[in-house]
Amino acid sequence: MPIKSRIRTIPHYPHEGIQFRDVTTLLKDPIGLRTTIQEIVTRYQSIKIDKVVAIESRGFIVGAPVAYALGVGFVPIRKPGKLPAETIGCEYQLEYGSDRIEMHVDAIQRGEKILLVDDLIATGGTMEAAAKLVQEMGGEIVECCFVVDLPDVGGRAKLEKQGLKIFSLCQFE
Ligand code: PRP
Ligand code: HPA
Repeated sequence: MPIKSRIRTIPHYPHEGIQFRDVTTLLKDPIGLRTTIQEIVTRYQSIKIDKVVAIESRGFIVGAPVAYALGVGFVPIRKPGKLPAETIGCEYQLEYGSDRIEMHVDAIQRGEKILLVDDLIATGGTMEAAAKLVQEMGGEIVECCFVVDLPDVGGRAKLEKQGLKIFSLCQFE
């Protein structure tokens, strides 16, 4: 398991009772980083994708090299106030707290096939908000792709009920 075995678990971070799955140990490893990007690219290289849309900040680390390798454009979804042009935004609940994400209104065109990328899905709140932004702009979501799924937290099941396709490279029960 070249990916899962390289992800470190930090007990009680950032709060008591949370088992934090830390992808920095995967990303700093040359085989870990390359395998992660290659496995995602292999899955999507023969599917029509117009753009990769990824979520700040750890989603960028995975999304940008995937877009580069697929030969498509990259669109950032960012935390509030970071994007300079006109944006649309969506509030969401985190596993611990709440936040808002934003995307430029001209980032994607109606009908474009979008691959959404983030490092990890827990409650699914972040990706649910990102998917709303993409759909509001008329993008067609091909799949939501993650390195890590925490199925016990329930995000994957929630998003699948909404008709979204979910893929992850590994899961931590
Ligand atoms: C983390 C992670 C996902 C999100 C998953 O991001 O990178 O984006 O939380 O949680 P959810 O499925 O419960 O919404 P975080 O907001 O910590 O930002 P970061 O990537 O900038 O560290
Ligand atoms: N690891 C990393 N990011 C996260 C986690 C986690 O366990 N839960 C929510 N965001």
